[in-house]
Amino acid sequence: MLDSARTSQIVPRGSRTERRSQLDALSRAFTGLDTEYPLAEGATTPRIYLDSAASTLRCRAADDIVRRALRHYANTHSTLHTGARTMTHLYEQAHEIVGRFVDAPDDYTTVFVGSGVTGGLNRMARVLAERRPERDLVITTLMEHHANDLPHRKHVGEVVHVPLESDPDGEAGRVDTGALRAAIEEHADRLNYVAITAASNVTGIVNPVHEVARHAHEAGALCVVDAAQSAAHVPISVQGRDEAEALDVVCMSGHKIYAPGSPGVIVAREALFDGLEPQVVGGGIVERVETGQYQITDALPEREEAGTPNLPGALRLAATLQLLGRIGMDLVAADERELTQYALERFASVEGLSIYGSHRLEVADRIGVVAFNLADLPHGLVAAALNDYFGVAVRNECFCAQPFVRELLGRTGGAEGAANGTECGPETQPGMVRASLGLYNTETDIDAAVEALSDLAARPDWYRAQYRPRGNGSGDWVHRSFEHPPEEVFSMEDEVDAWLRAAD
Ligand code: ALA
Repeated sequence: MLDSARTSQIVPRGSRTERRSQLDALSRAFTGLDTEYPLAEGATTPRIYLDSAASTLRCRAADDIVRRALRHYANTHSTLHTGARTMTHLYEQAHEIVGRFVDAPDDYTTVFVGSGVTGGLNRMARVLAERRPERDLVITTLMEHHANDLPHRKHVGEVVHVPLESDPDGEAGRVDTGALRAAIEEHADRLNYVAITAASNVTGIVNPVHEVARHAHEAGALCVVDAAQSAAHVPISVQGRDEAEALDVVCMSGHKIYAPGSPGVIVAREALFDGLEPQVVGGGIVERVETGQYQITDALPEREEAGTPNLPGALRLAATLQLLGRIGMDLVAADERELTQYALERFASVEGLSIYGSHRLEVADRIGVVAFNLADLPHGLVAAALNDYFGVAVRNECFCAQPFVRELLGRTGGAEGAANGTECGPETQPGMVRASLGLYNTETDIDAAVEALSDLAARPDWYRAQYRPRGNGSGDWVHRSFEHPPEEVFSMEDEVDAWLRAAD
């Protein structure tokens, strides 16, 4: 195992009362909270955004800070003019802030890559496959997003999916650590790493990642954590109680941490990259280039970030994480836990609504993600009707986690009704509806969604009569008469023409 040195995490500043009022102010400082859409029955209403597990809204406070920084914008590959030096400094600081947000010690590096965790997990799967080619097996869980499954299959080799615990009600909970240990023991000689999500994007259930790291390390394997869903919702530390519990790699998605437009992130032990040729080469990572040869810098993260970086995005992410870190993720998590408990209770009160995954926060802690089905109504129709009649934005289908969604649908033994079974039909696809929370959501949003769902549950035939299946096998349902086409919502050409007219 590799040694790590401790470093300083971002420290919350101010009294709890001050931080509370800062968090209240931050929760309101998001772009898109007051966006209004017309509804099928004629009214126009502000949307209720319950789709933060897909992408959070963007933090306006961070945007304001970055807008001021961008007055100095220049390429980080230039070195001597003031703007370039300032931007290079800010870009380095952005790496540092992101590392500190996850409590990364000094011997970890922070690499910006891609636009979510997909880029980072593909990069690390290839790095770890190359580093230890004799270890061609990865253990992951049944609750993973495709991004924390397919890269390991493609780049490393065999992937073993371990099952989940069941709570006393038989509902799926966290990873089954007993089954995980058995799988580690069985495959110890071939095991490269255990890849696990910190929180599920389907049930929101949180995994004991440090305990998983300990088991992986005992077998000489590494621990790779997909923190895409958890990072904005609960505190995460790369370091555990001791070295054995430290996470070797953590990947995060800027667009799920209130900073859409910012890159994905890898925070990993520097030593993992030692001596490996970077997978992406180009400008900014070389010491010397001749026509017949080139020499790549040893410096990290530079050698893993060829080309001009997404500097505005990286700064936005850093500003957002610094804001969250200063206010305190403890406060963010406590508020979300309360709202999640409220949401679980309120959603469960809707007649015929089944929630997937354990509802018992005391045995399987959750972030604010609630996936469900309404008996007898297809998930595609429910999601469309919530949008069209109530302005409630949710995601449906399988959330890029098909094996897990099939497993959850299978567990209920058809309780969700024929409309949402595990097999595809002419009008349906397996799937669920998912409501997910962000900093800006309140009990009022939950109440509005519950009121809407109660109406759907009370009048399923009426709602069904308003819709038809799109008919392309997608599982989508479209309203028979109401339309609100995207080109009427926003036209880039019209906006440009308006700007030009104003400039005449
Ligand atoms: N992976 C994202 C989700 O869970 C898009 O919805």
